[in-house]
Amino acid sequence: MKWPRRGRGDSQAEGDPNGAAGATDGGRGKGLRRLVRAILLVGVLAAFTRPGRRLTRAAARWLDARVERFSEPESATYAHVFAPILGRLYQRVADDVADELSTHGRIRRPTIVDLGCGPGDLAVEISRRLHDARIVGLDLSPSMLLWASRHATTDGRLRFIVGDAASLPFDDASVDLVVSTLSLHHWSEPADAFAEIARVLKPDGIALIYDLGLLAFEPSEMAKIATAAGLGPSDIGREGLGGGIVTRFFVRFWLEGLVEE
Ligand SMILES: C[S@@+](CC[C@H](N)C(=O)[O-])C[C@H]1O[C@@H](n2cnc3c(N)ncnc32)[C@H](O)[C@@H]1O
Repeated sequence: MKWPRRGRGDSQAEGDPNGAAGATDGGRGKGLRRLVRAILLVGVLAAFTRPGRRLTRAAARWLDARVERFSEPESATYAHVFAPILGRLYQRVADDVADELSTHGRIRRPTIVDLGCGPGDLAVEISRRLHDARIVGLDLSPSMLLWASRHATTDGRLRFIVGDAASLPFDDASVDLVVSTLSLHHWSEPADAFAEIARVLKPDGIALIYDLGLLAFEPSEMAKIATAAGLGPSDIGREGLGGGIVTRFFVRFWLEGLVEE
């Protein structure tokens, strides 16, 4: 259907007492519609085109590198604001860890390492499911560890240490499961970290590394990292997490323990 065009000042010509204000409201409404359309267009381009996705990823990484520092007071903000929002993710990951260990029969006193543990919420979630596990949370940031240490147990079942994923203070083939959430994209030496993970994993061990899809390494990047770590290019698997409103934004990488030939 065609609507008759209205010229400037038409409303006044028709004797509308709110003519001027009506025209302003109409202009504002048009502006708002244009803005919404532009946002939608940018959203579609960002989500459904390859260059758009690449640009969004680059922008997210750029932003992330600037806003996140894990000293005080950022660690406190993370512990109080972000970690509680991520509760669903920690529950899902803790379930995965428990499933993984029981599926492979690695259930008796497993040693689990949480790399980049932050304030320790995931480690706590895992300890609730696996009562005989030895869980070590490791993080580069001493101030994050101050928060995590609140959860440490006196029997050493759950402890937290300062350390770098690229230089792990564990013996060769001594860890049943390495887990990590939202830390991988911060590792400055990811290839060294994966070489270390492969070194410390028992032959039947496994690493489950979760990261935000928008910030996580693409398969081609991960193949290069794996090669630089001395692994095969496809030794580190990658899959979307799916599931709930929080977890669907995450991807999971996995690496199985290496068996000597
Ligand atoms: C976004 S926080 C995630 C914390 C926690 N895993 C979570 O899911 O809430 C990232 C953490 O990784 C840690 N981190 C960054 N680089 C690291 C490295 N090379 N080795 C160990 N931890 C690292 C940071 O200090 C920070 O606590």
